[in-house]
Amino acid sequence: MSDPKQTDGPTHLHEERTFPPSEEFAAAANGTAELFEHAAADREGFWAEQARRYVTWEQDFDQVLDWSDAPFSKWFVGGTLNACVNAVDRHVEAGNGDRVAIHFVGEPGDTRDITYAELHQQVQRAANALADLGVGQGDTVAIYLPMIPEAVVAMLACARLGAPHSVVFGGFSAEALHSRIDDVGATLVITSDGGWRRGKHSALKPAVDAALAVGDTDVQNVLVVRRTGQDVEWTDGRDVWWDDALAAAAESHEAQAFDAEHPLFILYTSGTTGKPKGIFHATGGYLVQTAYTSSVVHDVHPETDVYWCTADIGWVTGHSYIVYGPMTLGATQVMYEGTPDTPHQGRFWEIVQDKKVSILYTAPTAIRTFMKWGREIPEKFDLSSLRLLGSVGEPINPEAWMWYREVIGGDRCPIVDTWWQTETGGIMISPLPGVTPTRPGSAQHAIPGISAAVVDDVGQPVEKGSAGYLVLTEPWPAMLRGIWGDPDRYKETYWSRFENLYFAGDGAKLDEDGNIWVLGRVDDVMNVSGHRMSTAEIESALVSHPKVAEAAVVGAADETTGQAICAFVILRSEFVEEADEVGEGENLIAELRNHVAKEIGPIAKPRQIMIVPELPKTRSGKIMRRLLKDVAENREVGDVTTLADSSVMTMISAGLNKGD
Ligand code: WTA
Repeated sequence: MSDPKQTDGPTHLHEERTFPPSEEFAAAANGTAELFEHAAADREGFWAEQARRYVTWEQDFDQVLDWSDAPFSKWFVGGTLNACVNAVDRHVEAGNGDRVAIHFVGEPGDTRDITYAELHQQVQRAANALADLGVGQGDTVAIYLPMIPEAVVAMLACARLGAPHSVVFGGFSAEALHSRIDDVGATLVITSDGGWRRGKHSALKPAVDAALAVGDTDVQNVLVVRRTGQDVEWTDGRDVWWDDALAAAAESHEAQAFDAEHPLFILYTSGTTGKPKGIFHATGGYLVQTAYTSSVVHDVHPETDVYWCTADIGWVTGHSYIVYGPMTLGATQVMYEGTPDTPHQGRFWEIVQDKKVSILYTAPTAIRTFMKWGREIPEKFDLSSLRLLGSVGEPINPEAWMWYREVIGGDRCPIVDTWWQTETGGIMISPLPGVTPTRPGSAQHAIPGISAAVVDDVGQPVEKGSAGYLVLTEPWPAMLRGIWGDPDRYKETYWSRFENLYFAGDGAKLDEDGNIWVLGRVDDVMNVSGHRMSTAEIESALVSHPKVAEAAVVGAADETTGQAICAFVILRSEFVEEADEVGEGENLIAELRNHVAKEIGPIAKPRQIMIVPELPKTRSGKIMRRLLKDVAENREVGDVTTLADSSVMTMISAGLNKGD
């Protein structure tokens, strides 16, 4: 584990500018200063109140928190509810069926507005169709879909049946998909023929076919949404068209309530080892916290706002802040299938203008890319509908924060820099937009009901002005309930570094005013464009290539993507000469990059692969990534005295400079 002071992250930690909310914003905001007082005086009472305010329970709970088996928690014990009913049915029953739930904007320019009433019809039919295929309470369903409304319908239909879903991001390869389908024990996969990306259609179904061809899964059926109309291979008896299944299914579906602790979903995320972890979330606590934070942090007013979260539903941000949080509130939102630069670099701003988006939630990588493209682009559009901006996924540097505020937010919109993780389920650290004077680059403080701290090596809180490790000091409703099928790994990963504290894996600093600045990961996890990538996972993909003997991967600072993947590779001796031949080195590097794309997915392709004769190791054999990072970031190589062989770094540097 590295020293938190050495992680990448905001450099201007003495930022003193603050931006208090306007009186007008503060007066109408959902999140108020009283929430802090209430939560501080009676944490559990506070959460009980939020649970009853934001969620409809079939049967009320009789205990807020059971922490007797810590670190395994139970929240809202005895309560029963249905997440889909909360996100859809009850809005229709309350007379809001005509409200648009989703303004879908497809990449080729097709648009569809779906009201809550229409969504209600679709989730009922979809739930019946799934049940007809044998899916019931406790069965797991893998979802591998592009950003289309059917993805939301599929997730909610699973929730309606009490069948935990496991969404796999469309950028993952067949191999990665197979290991997730297998680990989660899915009996059904929901996919599509393909999706649109940068004006072309990409295929999804072939990856599912390849994943299932590996064998070794419990999958009975594949449900296929028609999106692009491209030809697909068909396995009779296994594959079913989504449209046909829904048309054949009964129209109405009576939803059953499930225990608050019933698993809602499993989402795989990268950890410090090669094997991704299946993070699983329980229904009640997760729904309460995502709805509460959509209300007090994103300040969603469902009657008037148009909300847009630009994440993909394949990541936790899409789960919590496209599907469960905003929909539990009954919000109207934009869902966009495409990329920010297709068909032109003003696409996001055109959507904001056309749909009158009032709340925008996006990632620092995107903001830095927009900065690079130039302010003239957003300035061509009318962005006056915006009233709140959010950021998530990685530290936002003060320059990007200021640009976001001035150019996109017209100097009037509060920015909420929200820190959280797949594991936390919902937002944990963020300003409250109507209360907190915001400070560029800092996520600032735990929200009401959440307790965070920055601690030193032995778990003691650091003083103001110092850096340390970010921890959570109390359980919270949306906390992960474990790692699917591996309770020991859950304890070991999150609860063993410090006693009774949840260790998030991030370094952080407290400024002189007590604001938290998240500095980035202190473990072997990289953050590339806000996506979590494990160095170990990419290393094991590289060494699975027959020509590779050993590999080490580091995240090097990158102006746009935050970090970029850099790999150092030692070849098996019989291939060393081949790589030295003119032009062959480059071919081999391309081969290795494609191999990683095949093993994990295109998102994991290293930016750079360097073929080296040796790797720097300590006497106990541990690779010193810090030194490789120096090389990858073109810095002078740091202290090499702990290396078993101190000449290794000279060899690496000499080898890399050979061609210059
Ligand atoms: C990083 C995404 C700084 C952090 C919701 C965390 C952030 C990891 C922020 C979780 C932020 C997320 N400021 N860093 N506002 N938000 N991170 O699981 O390193 O994909 O541990 O969840 O992203 O990534 P995950």
